[in-house]
Amino acid sequence: MTTKWFQITSPDDAAQIGEAAAILRRGGLLAIPTETVYGLGADGLDEAAVARIFAAKGRPQDNPLILHVPSADWLARCCAEVPETAYRLAAAFWPGPLTMILKKAPAVPLRTTGGLDTVGVRCPDHAVTRAIIAAAGVPVAAPSANLSGRPSCTTAEHVRADMDGRIDGIVDGGACRVGVESTIIDLTVAPPRLLRPGGLPLEALRRVLGEIAVDQAVTRQLAAEEKPRAPGMKYRHYAPRAPVTAVTGSPAESGRWLRAHVPDGAGVLVYDEFAPLFPAQTVRTIGPAADKAEQARRVFDALRAFDDTDVTEIYAQCPDSAGLGLAVGNRLKKAAGFHTIDAHDGAAVIGFTGGTGAGKTTLLRAFEAMGARIFDCDAYYYEQLRADERLRGAIRAAFPGVLSADGVLDREKLGKLVFGDPERLTALDRIVFAHLPRAIAAEIERTGARLVGIDAVKLTESGLGALCDATVAVTAPEAARIARIMARDGISEERARARLRAQKSDEAFCERCGSVFVNDAPDAAEAARRSERFLQRLLKQIEEERNHG
Ligand code: TXA
Ligand code: MG
Repeated sequence: MTTKWFQITSPDDAAQIGEAAAILRRGGLLAIPTETVYGLGADGLDEAAVARIFAAKGRPQDNPLILHVPSADWLARCCAEVPETAYRLAAAFWPGPLTMILKKAPAVPLRTTGGLDTVGVRCPDHAVTRAIIAAAGVPVAAPSANLSGRPSCTTAEHVRADMDGRIDGIVDGGACRVGVESTIIDLTVAPPRLLRPGGLPLEALRRVLGEIAVDQAVTRQLAAEEKPRAPGMKYRHYAPRAPVTAVTGSPAESGRWLRAHVPDGAGVLVYDEFAPLFPAQTVRTIGPAADKAEQARRVFDALRAFDDTDVTEIYAQCPDSAGLGLAVGNRLKKAAGFHTIDAHDGAAVIGFTGGTGAGKTTLLRAFEAMGARIFDCDAYYYEQLRADERLRGAIRAAFPGVLSADGVLDREKLGKLVFGDPERLTALDRIVFAHLPRAIAAEIERTGARLVGIDAVKLTESGLGALCDATVAVTAPEAARIARIMARDGISEERARARLRAQKSDEAFCERCGSVFVNDAPDAAEAARRSERFLQRLLKQIEEERNHG
């Protein structure tokens, strides 16, 4: 069959809406855009049409479909009993990413509901699709438009990839705004039960309904004999072709785990900030660590994108369960068949950066006095050159002749090679950045250190900053810095000034870090006191953020 492509941008385009609705009225299959994911629609009251959905998707017959309606008035048409709470929820959240499970009306065939006496109903927040349903004049049964088991479709192109030639038409309504499917709440039980987390956060539902139970299938793999309340939750789902491992913990914790363990050549699905840490892996990103709405929009596309690569395993950073994190995490865990790794290491890792003379050392010594293991990245790099053959190999290949057989670096020779040659400097950085974060993450895990300080001039450039639970830029007034450099290195004021000018500006350090420590104490004892107070506050903040997640 040839699949007709509809480009409908307005609900007032009566001609095109009419043509699309006619497909539904004559029992055909039409892919429709919604705010969550694309749906594969058919007349939900027509058994033969509904049977075609199951065939086109390769979907198990016992997996019920959701009915899509243009407004809450249609609830009474689809459901036998409509409690007052349903109208309250509709008033609060429709049109929107919420599906309610209610007793089905006799007109709804068992084929639509997978043999259940209940039915899922939702009103999608997409004006063109509501206009098509209204024009068809029937509730539209629509599962997500992917082939069964594949990640849901968030663009019309995804639908084409899965369904071209199998269905009558595809309505292109642009990329889906929410990106994960609707939240499903079962209103036939008391208290109401969350069957699937989705585009409407559980917290929002609780504000309207009060107590809500969360179904087991949301958070773990059901055993073969267990019967899930939402039949669809038992199937392996949302899966790219390569097996997935979902890694939980705060972004820094899961990042550290990934950096310590993921082999070269694997696929990694990470928050944007972590992408530079994996130069030898195939990376797909799902948005900033702090932006769960963006992660929801991108999660399916990112999972699908691995299918265009030849990776044989995929590791994914998994958000905490607050807000949309519950839905994003659920989709990733389902993609992983609930093969998850808990990366909570409980360590507080703080990154420090700043220019010469700013007084970073004071803060680092204070942290060390509190029991922290400190990584001085300069020193650690030289240590690694002696200890790690792989690092030596990379340096030798890029810079022949700078390393002796036993790993002693001719610093002067290497310095001359990269000084004033941006390309060579970048090549050197790339080698070091590929090595240090992995070595440090592995060392943190190996030693089980609770407090860790990482001291690096290129803290953010190297990607190390993303592995930290907090990052600190250390600054000081210029006069204090000049005096410190003169005293420390025994040089003239003029040369101390020249050295300051050659460095990155304070602003450049500050804007890349989570907090700033201004080291302007009048004497060393006071500086040490202030450092400790600052670090205690920061540790408390890290602790609170973790508990919140
Ligand atoms: O956002 C969405 O809900 C999208 C768009 C297209 O609206 N639709 C969607 O449909 O995700 P589908 O078929 O991929 O997922 C429907 C889920 C399945 O897990 C199914 O088992 C559950 O809803 N479901 C449907 N009717 C149910 C019922 N009566 N009782 C329990 N679960 C039900
Ligand atoms: Mg689906």
